[in-house]
Amino acid sequence: MRIVHTDLLVIGGGLAGLRAAVGARRRGHEVIILSLVPAKRSHSAAAQGGMQASLANTAKGEGDNEDVHFEDTVRGSDWGCDQEVARLFVHTAPQAVRELANWGVPWNRVRAGAREVVMDGQRVSLSERAEAHGLIAARDFGGTKKWRTCYVSDGTGHAMLYAVSDQAVAAGIPVHERMEAIALIHEGGRCHGAVVRNLVTGELSAYVARATCVATGGFGRIYRVSSNALINEGIGAAIALETGVVPLGNMEAVQFHPTTIFPAGILVTEGCRGDGGLLRDARGHRFMPDYEPEKKELASRDVVSRRMEEHIRAGHGVKTRFGEHLWLDITLLGAAHIDARLREVKEICQHFLGIDPSRELIPVRPAQHYSMGGIRTDVRGEAVGLRGLFACGEAACWDLHGFNRLGGNSVAETVVAGMIVGENIADFLASPEGDLQVSTALVRGCVVPNRLASMPCCQVRAVSVLRP
Ligand code: FUM
Repeated sequence: MRIVHTDLLVIGGGLAGLRAAVGARRRGHEVIILSLVPAKRSHSAAAQGGMQASLANTAKGEGDNEDVHFEDTVRGSDWGCDQEVARLFVHTAPQAVRELANWGVPWNRVRAGAREVVMDGQRVSLSERAEAHGLIAARDFGGTKKWRTCYVSDGTGHAMLYAVSDQAVAAGIPVHERMEAIALIHEGGRCHGAVVRNLVTGELSAYVARATCVATGGFGRIYRVSSNALINEGIGAAIALETGVVPLGNMEAVQFHPTTIFPAGILVTEGCRGDGGLLRDARGHRFMPDYEPEKKELASRDVVSRRMEEHIRAGHGVKTRFGEHLWLDITLLGAAHIDARLREVKEICQHFLGIDPSRELIPVRPAQHYSMGGIRTDVRGEAVGLRGLFACGEAACWDLHGFNRLGGNSVAETVVAGMIVGENIADFLASPEGDLQVSTALVRGCVVPNRLASMPCCQVRAVSVLRP
């Protein structure tokens, strides 16, 4: 049996895991990342529209600050989030966005002077301050009082992932690819690492670690239609739950994104509506103002999704042989805007629908998008119930989002939580509690195939593999 030893084992090679790994490595600890896929292909790459940080650089962001971001986040969460976590998050987000700029993320920038934008279906002129020229720009997103979503056209997650992954490479952190953690090794309330399956050879190994951090993303793929990648099956939450001592939090809080292309469920960014796109029904009628006269298409995500389903149930959906849908109209933004700021949307529409969104409407319907629930942690990111186990990003219920996450707060959470939890793990590793005493018998016992076969985590996996 192969046994690998390290200080920190990070399970998951997306943005949250990578950022936590970089933090702990910089503090001198040995780190190994496990990833189902090459890190640069992780689901973080799918984040399109942007990350929220209250920089207040643009005309429509004027007056923004941490307090306003905090208020939006708490209200957006239906008052369900942990306000201590939300405070920490909004305070750290501007630092995270600047760190990413320093690491090479090509954020869209403010251009001084007048420019035309589409707001509420009308073309209007906005003027940006001369002093703001060249600073990081922000676009509008749902449920926010200010334009606060920093973006790289509509490939924000992709740009962030490449930058943070390059930092992990530069720090010499090995990513063990095509490896899946299938059980946590634990005894006496202390986590000792994980049992890991090589997805190419099937070989089982024990990764023994002084600290373990789960950053495996969400569990969207348990839904029939989801914007999540195929790898988002919730294995991190499953192996934590199977310990019998780590609770999951807010598992009933599941987010549906209003605009995924119908019927495939591929994300079309909220940035489309943030930049002025409209929702229309079978008659071409713009229906959101009828339900939400103030925020219209830019009410928070849960509200827009519910209104869309309500409207379809009232008989206003477009009927097709696959079911019913509504329309997203971005034709009014013009081809130049779409080519510059929504080019991924354009490509998705071309490849998966065969349409040009600068001339044709996009068929959309809400689909599962984000798991607010996950491994219950404290504000430091340590899992409740098991010392030495941490979680961050979508896999965790750090409880930043309560019952509804604001658009742009998840990709922000990945790097912010990664920064904060990475430091807390480094502190833990440097403390006497970070020492590890684990018996070889325990480790060997965990990797015996017969024992694994009887473990619920393997049953969870088997069910997902057999799913039609
Ligand atoms: O619509 C989007 O671009 C998705 C953003 C998010 O989930 O935060």
